[in-house]
Amino acid sequence: MYVCLCTGVTDGQIRDAIYEGCCSYKDVRNTLGVGTQCGKCACLAKEVVRETLTKLQTAQAALPYPVEFTAA
Ligand code: FES
Repeated sequence: MYVCLCTGVTDGQIRDAIYEGCCSYKDVRNTLGVGTQCGKCACLAKEVVRETLTKLQTAQAALPYPVEFTAA
């Protein structure tokens, strides 16, 4: 689903950016350019970032050992 129509960024691209090392909305915005034009997508983009980070933290907490994600 498209999150940012101005830059053509999808929710999948936002998730991938987080899996590849972004750890905040600011990081995602700087990497993908989401929310940098009209700004109407900022709330939804932040929600996708928050949801993805929460899922990652929950998945990591369930593991018996810590996993680190590094940028490729
Ligand atoms: S819809 Fe994302 S900046 Fe306009």
